[in-house]
Amino acid sequence: MSRPVRISPSILSADFASLGDEVRAIDEAGCDWIHVDVMDGHFVPNITIGPAVVKALRPHSKKPFDVHLMISPVDPYLEDFANAGADIISFHPEAGPHPHRTVQAIKALGKKAGIVLNPATPVDCLDYLIDDIDLILVMSVNPGFGGQKFVHSQLDKIAALRAMIDQTGRDIALEVDGGITAETAPLAIEAGADTLVAGTATFKGGPDHYAANIAALRGS
Ligand code: DX5
Ligand code: ZN
Repeated sequence: MSRPVRISPSILSADFASLGDEVRAIDEAGCDWIHVDVMDGHFVPNITIGPAVVKALRPHSKKPFDVHLMISPVDPYLEDFANAGADIISFHPEAGPHPHRTVQAIKALGKKAGIVLNPATPVDCLDYLIDDIDLILVMSVNPGFGGQKFVHSQLDKIAALRAMIDQTGRDIALEVDGGITAETAPLAIEAGADTLVAGTATFKGGPDHYAANIAALRGS
């Protein structure tokens, strides 16, 4: 596979007491995007961060903020995340109520739109969305927590999505999120992923290790 791989560290595994420093450290360590996991304790069983934190982090890196919304409803918060500095806004179609409307709303805010597929969500939910989106995020764990084990059944889904994307001829990122390590990263890449989210595997060992951790995920 010669496709260059983007690494989008999930700051969920960063030191929350020093988030600005952590974002600067992963930027300097060579990450491509910065993945922000937003959880509401309702759509998923965990609560994390909101637009105020995204806004506070924005001056710490010029790299794209890849904001993964695990909230329901989605639409009332889009403008806040856009204004806070999100570049890509992804959401789960199950969070509803109307995924097509949500994609339109994200695009109207001038941001890139992504659809997130949970492990049990079939690819055909994209049939009437794929021509309008910029990113597909495959969850290789159930959403809610970092540090879970990679669900291998998602490799077939990644391959199916790679074929769907190639057929569109459009530039749609194919991102994988959950349980990505130096061992599972090559499987996801081989299946067709071009962007990997990694929380635990990026932040393990502290700032001195971030560059090596990111390089290991790229397979270099
Ligand atoms: C899970 C989140 C992931 C997660 C990744 O709901 O979307 O981004 O934090 O964490 P690791 O890389 O530790 O599996
Ligand atoms: Zn995520």
